[in-house]
Amino acid sequence: MQSTSSARAHTNIALIKYWGKKNQELIIPTTSSLSLTLDRFYTDTKVTFDDKLTADTFYLNHQQMVGPIADKTFAFLKLIRQQAQIDTFATIESINHVPTAAGLASSASAFAALAGAGSKAAGLTLTKQALSRLARRGSGSAARSIFGGFSEWHAGDNDLNSFAHPIQENVTMDIQMITVVVDAHEKKITSRMGMQHALLTSPFYQTWVNEAAKDLVAMKAAIVSNDFKALGTLAENNALQMHSLNLSAKPGFTYFNGSTLEILDLVQNLRKQQILAFATMDAGPNVKIIAQSKDTATIIDILKQAFPHVQVEIAKPGHGLIYLD
Ligand code: DP6
Repeated sequence: MQSTSSARAHTNIALIKYWGKKNQELIIPTTSSLSLTLDRFYTDTKVTFDDKLTADTFYLNHQQMVGPIADKTFAFLKLIRQQAQIDTFATIESINHVPTAAGLASSASAFAALAGAGSKAAGLTLTKQALSRLARRGSGSAARSIFGGFSEWHAGDNDLNSFAHPIQENVTMDIQMITVVVDAHEKKITSRMGMQHALLTSPFYQTWVNEAAKDLVAMKAAIVSNDFKALGTLAENNALQMHSLNLSAKPGFTYFNGSTLEILDLVQNLRKQQILAFATMDAGPNVKIIAQSKDTATIIDILKQAFPHVQVEIAKPGHGLIYLD
């Protein structure tokens, strides 16, 4: 028997961050989170289960992968095989359309695409909710990439009730993200390690959990009322709170470098000139500027004058998981 399926999933950037797990094996987060799926960056993945294979193989951008990335991927295939009750090996071929130097997390789009293609090739017909639960087991943020536009990952407290759902798939707000790459190197501390260290050692962790619940309610209200300023204000503040957990951990650490802080300062200064721009940062030094389309050209001009060497990309809201066959 041979069975193939291909799927595409886009990456997402959290406006209300996920930073810590209450169950590490099942990837159940301590807080609910909310993100915007982006059109610009995505992963295409083809999975082929074949009786003739004697092992799983994983090709990323046409290169055979070995080591931790391959192991994580094969562990995920095992989950799919368990659900489908098969024991056939598979070949995975993924192409990442996240520019290699973009410094953006690709695990969200990668595991969302793999959940889609892998489950279908294994003969499963999963609902989007079940796909989100499955993608979550690969990387938490992947749960949100099953959906387009604004997507909320409801934390839940077990495997069955921790999944993402769409808040608004066809985004009505004028919102774009300018990704500013200050450093394209791999992150030194993975998000998986960083978040648990913050959870275990920051004295402010419980405050973060409490604040995140309030931020989420306010963020959903901002989306419903099309209030860009409220959305941006909340997103920037939530990101800074997440990063303050890392600074206050023991030992403290940060994903920021000098350029991150300089760009953050530039974004805050733009607002003083009546240009509505807000910043969000994840497990790396790069900055994503949340802006309205009418301002993106001006913002990029100002940014390029101050930092001629940074790489900049504009992303718009994107759609959820799609099958390519
Ligand atoms: C800062 O989803 O990469 O981007 O579940 O351990 O794979 P694991 O972590 P991951 O963490 C993402 C952290 C973040 C915030 C977010 O996307 O919500």
